[in-house]
Amino acid sequence: LMRIGIFDSGVGGLTVLKAIRDRYAEADIIYLGDTARVPYGNKSEETVIRYSMECADFLLSKGIDILVVACNTASSYAINPLRESLSIPVVGVVKPGVKLALSLTNGRVGVIGTLTTIRSGSYQIPLKEAGVEVFARACPLLVPLVEEGLFEGEIVRKVVSMYLKDLKGKIDTLILGCTHYPLLKNVIQDFLGDVLIVDSSKAVACELEGFVKGGGGAKTELFFTDMSPNLPTLVEIILGQPLEIKAVSPQSFFP
Ligand code: DGL
Repeated sequence: LMRIGIFDSGVGGLTVLKAIRDRYAEADIIYLGDTARVPYGNKSEETVIRYSMECADFLLSKGIDILVVACNTASSYAINPLRESLSIPVVGVVKPGVKLALSLTNGRVGVIGTLTTIRSGSYQIPLKEAGVEVFARACPLLVPLVEEGLFEGEIVRKVVSMYLKDLKGKIDTLILGCTHYPLLKNVIQDFLGDVLIVDSSKAVACELEGFVKGGGGAKTELFFTDMSPNLPTLVEIILGQPLEIKAVSPQSFFP
């Protein structure tokens, strides 16, 4: 029985859960969204690592066989500490996104993400090492837009244009380096024209190919550290169906 554990700072990682569920219908999935402590995207490296370790501990207590770090911020800072301390495979979103972008680009890649993800250089460093030109931009307003349920319309177009106008015309491929951005893909694509868009949620689903095997009960369990009022709506919008959500007491895994 294969049990895939996925964690994110909140609801955004459900885009990753969806991509994985669509591809591996046979695996059990246990998701933890750390809604009590979201956002991770403007926290320090030290805090992001500590939170990520705690999320991983909770999922390990549920008997997972593999850990997917759906959060780009956590993948940027905590992937090595997690790999060093866990005895199961740990897959983040950054490397698969980079790999997919490199397979598509003609040499000019844009990356957008949270402040922390962009500051970490997690995407830029391997892309530059592979010899492509990189244009990176932190887009801190995009996460709250999505959490407000705004995926399109004038305000979203304006914010997207504000962040992406300097990249427009310079890049042939754009990596969506944040869990929330796939929900803004249409607006981003419209603004950038024929730029290829790499959705790291899809990229990480491909990356699991070698790990996921055997049939499970195909259960999906969703845990959140805070039952935020907008949670049920966002879960339904992102997954395309309502699913039961369970609260996990922060005290149980926040020392
Ligand atoms: N999940 C985060 C990421 O992908 C976005 C939200 C946050 O800042 O926590 O970087």
